[in-house]
Amino acid sequence: MMRVSTPGEGECIVRLSVIGCGYLGAVHAAAMASIGHEVVGIDLDPRKIDALSRGEAPFFEPGLPEILTEGVESGRLSFTTDIAAAEGAAVHFVGVGTPQQQDGHAADMSHVNAAFESLLPHVRPGDIVAGKSTVPVGTAAVLAPLVEAVGATLAWNPEFLREGWAVQDTIDPDRLVAGVPATAGGERAAAVLREVYHPAVAKGTPFMITDYATAELVKVAANAFLATKISFINAMAEIAEVTGADVTQLADAIGHDVRIGRRFLGAGIGFGGGCLPKDIRAFAARAEELGRGESVNFLREVDAINLRRRDRAVQLVIDALGGSVFGKKVAVLGAAFKPFSDDVRDSPALDVAVRLNGLGANVVVTDPQAIDNARRLHPQLTYEPSRDESIRDADAVVMVTEWDEYRRDLTPEHASTLTAGRVVVDGRNGFDAAAWRAAGWIYYGMGRP
Ligand code: UGA
Repeated sequence: MMRVSTPGEGECIVRLSVIGCGYLGAVHAAAMASIGHEVVGIDLDPRKIDALSRGEAPFFEPGLPEILTEGVESGRLSFTTDIAAAEGAAVHFVGVGTPQQQDGHAADMSHVNAAFESLLPHVRPGDIVAGKSTVPVGTAAVLAPLVEAVGATLAWNPEFLREGWAVQDTIDPDRLVAGVPATAGGERAAAVLREVYHPAVAKGTPFMITDYATAELVKVAANAFLATKISFINAMAEIAEVTGADVTQLADAIGHDVRIGRRFLGAGIGFGGGCLPKDIRAFAARAEELGRGESVNFLREVDAINLRRRDRAVQLVIDALGGSVFGKKVAVLGAAFKPFSDDVRDSPALDVAVRLNGLGANVVVTDPQAIDNARRLHPQLTYEPSRDESIRDADAVVMVTEWDEYRRDLTPEHASTLTAGRVVVDGRNGFDAAAWRAAGWIYYGMGRP
């Protein structure tokens, strides 16, 4: 088979390798196979590769098991720990993690550097290496000469997928961005990436071709904006708390202004996960290195507001239980950093649970998907898979991840048949406060009277 072939009108099959099979890479590999490409996913972790090779997702992501199974069964999708398998692919996507450094705020680039080092001996002249990892601006300019030395071209192609919607976001994104050099190789790289993303391109999805620095910055700027929007509304929640205003009504009212928009104005215990928190910190650290720390100094404030909301939630539970949680049974609904995910990295929900436990509460955590991951991180907590068992005899119910099972399906009438107390702390402003109060509960929201 040709490495780039055109079997039918507007439909291309490209041979791809995807280096790194975490949340980003595994979804990318499976999604690319689902739109017809021949894909090999490569990762150092044999357990991950074994699972993926059986068509099993190593983490919870709606829609992923289906396209994995379909891809593996069709023969278009395979996984291996052997980096040599990248040989023969026309485009090599690098989607390894860039976590926060152990001892600082900057991004840990060791996985990206190792991935390029191991991949490049298997890259052939004319190939395209497409970086997808979220990296400090300036990274591509450093890596490009190494890629060019083997006759290939580097493109920077950031990813904007949200966990929980990752498959849809990969196949049908809002926009595509590729940073390429201003050379014939760069032009060709952009054209090949258009073929790779053919269904989105055919649909008219905006595809922006930029230089490297712009592409890298688009990614961190988008996450910085989203984090800022969330912290903005949480700052308003702090003001609402001392004035008696209701931040959810405030968000509805300002959100009607199309220039502002209602999305990401959900006040509560704030943002977490493997992206927004570490990305804003890495961005601030990088700006500092560039001598422009002051330009994004507000991101430190965004981070601080965000972390204060966790303190606020803990304080609300203490107040709600009469000044102390010691010896009280507190049911914590949710451990994942958001619904439709089993990811507990920097999860505000789990953080609140851990702090309440540290204050002597008898905390019982439930979550539809994230219990195993949460237990690995915090084995000291008690976990209960059943929502109803978790709230049985509880003195307070604390909702911190707005899964439908809690926000939509748990009625105050039903909860009343199970709990000991009638105190509910809504860390995500997801419950209908009036309905809980009407059913005899004392309701506490975040930034709500
Ligand atoms: C985020 C971005 O939304 C993606 O576009 C980006 O590609 C991704 O990071 C990444 O860099 O890989 P994700 O981390 O999956 O995606 O989660 P979000 O949906 O952005 O939610 C982040 C956090 O913000 C969650 O803890 C969520 O509960 C919180 N949040 C979200 C709020 O507190 N309020 C809101 O109104 C919205």
